[in-house]
Amino acid sequence: MDASTQTVAEVLLAWYQGHARRLPWRAPPGAPPPDPYRVWLSEVMLQQTTVAAVAPYFVKFTARWPTARDLAAAEDAEVMAAWAGLGYYARARNLLACARAVAARGGAFPDTEEALRELPGLGAYTAAAVAAIAFGRRAVVVDANVERVTARLFALDEPLPGGRTAIRRAAEAITPERHSGDFAQAMMDLGATICTSRAPRCLLCPLAAACQARARGEAERFPVKAAKKPRPERHGRAYWIEREGAVWLVRREGRGMLGGMRALPDDDWSARSDGARPAPLVGPWTPLGTVQHVFTHFALTLSLSLYDGDDWARLDPDEGEWWSLDQLEAAGLPTLFAKAARLGLSRQRGE
Ligand code: ADE
Repeated sequence: MDASTQTVAEVLLAWYQGHARRLPWRAPPGAPPPDPYRVWLSEVMLQQTTVAAVAPYFVKFTARWPTARDLAAAEDAEVMAAWAGLGYYARARNLLACARAVAARGGAFPDTEEALRELPGLGAYTAAAVAAIAFGRRAVVVDANVERVTARLFALDEPLPGGRTAIRRAAEAITPERHSGDFAQAMMDLGATICTSRAPRCLLCPLAAACQARARGEAERFPVKAAKKPRPERHGRAYWIEREGAVWLVRREGRGMLGGMRALPDDDWSARSDGARPAPLVGPWTPLGTVQHVFTHFALTLSLSLYDGDDWARLDPDEGEWWSLDQLEAAGLPTLFAKAARLGLSRQRGE
């Protein structure tokens, strides 16, 4: 890069013309912006989730609910089931609340960062991303990719999370007045394809000449992160209660972990480090094995037990339902319980 004549934004926008990833929620570089509903939906889905994981969900959601009004009119349970497998389920609850707020104002998203912030569940990141990408507003959009590119470009070495303030200030300084949506997505694409966490491909980078971390020969060291505490481990129990080709499923309480999702009954491991809720039936129980799942704040080992009795009449129909094993795919179980269900099914088939 010739830093004396071209700004970082100019170089990056020129690179984006030829290197933008074609993604289902995007308009090509320089083209009129895409539908704000699609931008908003993609940005909510992309939080803490990879492009590869999001793409099929985005296609499925927009085919089924093409507008904010369509989504607003959907049943909560349908949307939660369609979200199953994407994780961070509070996003799906907020998604519906936001779609309904947008429908209540006639179906159009507001077009400024400040007004977008007022919508339920729209944090600083999403409001900035939608304002820039869908409405062409100048907004500073900082996700993990942008953070990494910026920290390297300016060799900002204050460890995260404290270092985020300086990174944000630097990102603000290089964000252009115009095309800030393309600029943000160019930073994301650079971070995802070239300025990667490990083994960055600096030889291919359009910003290499300006990059201070590269000049020091230590691009990979940035962003510096504070030492992580080890992830705590928790143990929980879940119950496989099967009768005539159906399994007993519950709906989890609306708030809290996996809230609002269908699930196997369990001992309330999510609320306490050691689950304490009694089993839904009094034994006999046979252990079927365990499944592991890593959440953001802890790692869970879930033991699955098979009910070997026949006292099914004691199950409370207000708490759950019999769900046909043939239709288990359609229950929309979150990944942890889908793993446990696979274990239940395989053990039952004697595998
Ligand atoms: N991650 C978050 N938003 C994105 C976008 N618009 N394009 C690619 N990756 C993203």
